[in-house]
Formats: sequence, structure tokens, C-alpha cells
Amino acid sequence: MHITFNRVSANYQLGPIKRADILTDLSAEVTPGSFTAVVGPTGAGKSSLLKLINGLLLPSVGEVSVGEVVFTAKASKQALKQVRKRVGMAFQFPEHQLFAETVYEDLAFGPRNFNISDSEIDTTIKHVCQLTGIDQSLLERSPFSLSGGQQRRVAIAGILATKPDILVLDEPAAGLDPVAKKQILEMLSHLHKTEKLTTLMVTHDMDDVVHYADDVIVMAEGQIKAHLDVRSLFSDQALLERYQLDVPTALSLQQQLEQAKGEQLNHRSLTLTELADYLIEEGWV
Ligand SMILES: Nc1ncnc2c1ncn2[C@@H]1O[C@H](COP(=O)(O)OP(=O)(O)O)[C@@H](O)[C@H]1O
Ligand SMILES: [Mg+2]
Repeated sequence: MHITFNRVSANYQLGPIKRADILTDLSAEVTPGSFTAVVGPTGAGKSSLLKLINGLLLPSVGEVSVGEVVFTAKASKQALKQVRKRVGMAFQFPEHQLFAETVYEDLAFGPRNFNISDSEIDTTIKHVCQLTGIDQSLLERSPFSLSGGQQRRVAIAGILATKPDILVLDEPAAGLDPVAKKQILEMLSHLHKTEKLTTLMVTHDMDDVVHYADDVIVMAEGQIKAHLDVRSLFSDQALLERYQLDVPTALSLQQQLEQAKGEQLNHRSLTLTELADYLIEEGWV
């Protein structure tokens, strides 16, 4: 499903005093079915950009299109409802939104809001448990008795239960231990592929960008500074330096080796396997 930002500015103005725009003059088109990483320093406007996609933040100028739904400064309630059904949004620490007495009830909450029948909800819950690797035996447990990684899975399963076409994730692995982190990201990547979900994910981890994303949106100072594929981003040293972006582990290692040797390789490695291949090819090892 298409997502387009057309000259969008937005702010968090609540009262009569106009404050400076938080997001200014954003234009971008997210390819349907793609996995896009959103990167940039804290305060750059990454979370705000995600909120524009499901109408939690409305443009003050310009328009956001999600499929056939178009948001401007005055979005109708109907447009908001339509888009929230299409866009599943996991905030940072989504498990903080868990509330029900059982995992089952938590997973049933979203679909019930969209007037889906009990029997259909039952089928959906079984399906999302399978997708997210939640054992059926956990359904009658309290979500609060589960581990952090399992709670995060339940929270994401709850988002999937409304059958979105677009998945928007704000640092989905933040705060998890390395094993749980890898499991969650692998699960999201698998979902993206099998369910054909257009996925946007805020992350600070450039190895995650390399492993999971096709495209990258670089944000700074409330603007989209670049929107390009992963390899182009890590080939553009000037861009990386301008926005103080980290590089993947393999590229960092390559740069250290190049410095020590006083020579440069022709290619920039994004993964360790790639680096090893280039080093052998160039006769460095
Ligand atoms: N609810 C809010 N009310 C007012 N200002 C906000 C709100 N949320 C974020 N901001 C401000 O908007 C800017 C962008 O924030 P955010 O989108 O959270 O950036 P990021 O996710 O890249 O760290 C920051 O200056 C932040 O202080
Ligand atoms: Mg944020």
C-alpha cells in the first residue's frame, strides 16, 4: 500500500499560540511492500514522521496519502478510522500498552474495536500467535507474567490482529537483550516478507538497517535529508558524516583495516561475509 508525503509540515500546536513546525516540508514516497528504516539523531522527528502515517499527528500544511486515504490539516473522523485499520503502529515499548487479564483478551481488544465477530477473532488470534511465535498455552496467562521478549511479541501480535497492510515500528527492539532482539527483528522481517506488509522502522542500529531494510529515510532537524537504498547510503561518506550516522560493524572494521594498511579497498562492505570475501579477493589475507 502506497504512502506519500507531499510537502508536509506539522507541529504539536495544542493551544492558540503557534509554535515552530516540528516537521518541515517533507516529501517522500514509500514503495509499497518495501522495508524502510528511519534513522537520524534524537529529536530529528522520526517518531513524529511515523505518527503522520496513521493520523496521530496531522499535517499543518501539505498532505499525507495512505492508499486512497488523504490527510490534510482537516482529516475527517472517517478517514482517520479507515487509516488506523490499515496501519499497525508499535510505539516504543509497546508492551506498556498491555492491559488485559489474559493474553487472549489483549489480542482480542483491537479486532473487537473494529466490530469483528467472536469466531473470526478466535481464528485471527490463532493466526497471529503462529506468526509471532506465541505458544497457544500462553493465551490464558496474564501478559504481565511473561518475559520482556514475550510481552513484546504479544504487543506486536495485538497490532497484527487488526490485519494491517502497513506496519510502523518505533525502535521495536529497544531494551531487549541481544537474543530477544534478534528474535523480534527476525520475526518482523519474516512477517514483512510473508504477509507483504509495507514496513517502516525507526532504528539506531546500522547493522539492523543492513540486515532488514531495503531503503532508508535519513531525518535531521525535522526534515527528510535523504531517502535512498541501503547501499547508496553507506557509499556516501559525506552524507554519513554530515548527519553523524554510524556505519555497520563490517564497514567500521574495513575502515580500521584500511587506515592501518594505508590503502583502500574498492568496495564498501556491509556485512562481515562481504568483508571477508573482499579481503581474500584483494589478497589482504
Ligand atoms: N507531544 C509532543 N509535544 C510537543 N513537542 C513534541 C512532542 N513530541 C515530540 N516533540 C518534539 O518534536 C521534535 C521531534 O521529536 P520526535 O519526533 O520524537 O523525534 P525523534 O523520534 O527523532 O527523537 C522534538 O523537538 C520533540 O521535542
Ligand atoms: Mg523517537
